[in-house]
Amino acid sequence: MSEPLINPQLPKRILSGVQPSGMPHLGNYFGAMKPHVELQNEGLETFIFIADLHSLTTVRDPKLLNEMIINLALDYLAIGLDPNKTVFFRQSDIPEHAELTWVLNCITPVSMLEQAHAYKEAIAKGTKDATAGLFDYPVLMAVDILIYKPDLVPVGKDQKQHVEIARDIAGKFNRIYGEVFKLPEPMIHAELGYVTGTDGINKMSKSYGNVINMFADEKTLRKQIMGIVTDSTPLEEPKNPETDTIYKIYCLFADEKEKAALAERYRAGGYGYGDAKKLLYEKIIESFKSQRELREKLKKDPGYVKEVLKNGALKAKAIASKTRNEVWEKVGLNL
Ligand code: TRP
Repeated sequence: MSEPLINPQLPKRILSGVQPSGMPHLGNYFGAMKPHVELQNEGLETFIFIADLHSLTTVRDPKLLNEMIINLALDYLAIGLDPNKTVFFRQSDIPEHAELTWVLNCITPVSMLEQAHAYKEAIAKGTKDATAGLFDYPVLMAVDILIYKPDLVPVGKDQKQHVEIARDIAGKFNRIYGEVFKLPEPMIHAELGYVTGTDGINKMSKSYGNVINMFADEKTLRKQIMGIVTDSTPLEEPKNPETDTIYKIYCLFADEKEKAALAERYRAGGYGYGDAKKLLYEKIIESFKSQRELREKLKKDPGYVKEVLKNGALKAKAIASKTRNEVWEKVGLNL
């Protein structure tokens, strides 16, 4: 898991966006949050931004959106995002994103956006009120990327198509108007952080309701862990760690010795799934102790969090406005 994700000889600016979507779970943590944040320690130029303009395609409650933005910032700061190493900002603080989206809209074929998964799925489900915002989501995302000219864009498998769309749009712009945009490469880490859900069947995901939220209050966390589905082998009998979900999740946190110890207890019999769940609960609380404490501390200081985002926005703005000016010149808006 902690193997370096990229070869240091390869390109060096890395950018990714995260759309606020509620409390993070272990799947988000191991699959995206942790690997993204760790890139900041590999001598690269890292950018992570909160895709709050994208959230407007689904969230229509202003108070909720505000909370979701702050919570997402808290989550990332708590797990170790260092604003001195990573440029951490809010998409909506940089008006150039929306401005450039219009320009790129004017060269993006409708037929390309009709092939985009999110839109296609919405239509397939019979959505009658799909918005222009949902339809245009990939163009805004293309701008998010292209405006910072990154080399690599870490995303989940489901977002790969969006990075390809960004490349297509960049290529088309460069052909029409001359070179401005760098063609980004997706960096897919889908298998890296696969976490089985508490149902023991599906990948951990909010939509399956099979999650463990590492920042939930202790009562909720306990309930989620106690809800892990197991087989019905009686307490006295030996159990197979390889096929058990508690064991699988425990392995995400435990060292080799701890893993072997738990596997042995399973195989010996006389050790129940209830005991294993208690052990897992303690392990998760212990593993996230400092992050949970830091999150609580930062939560009491929203001024600090806003300050961090404002400072990040200043750094992002310097790059975004430069690209915007290049584009304005190329297309003929710079009188
Ligand atoms: N669409 C991405 C997601 O749902 C979030 C996102 C928005 C993004 N803009 C981006 C990711 C730019 C990478 C680069 O996860």
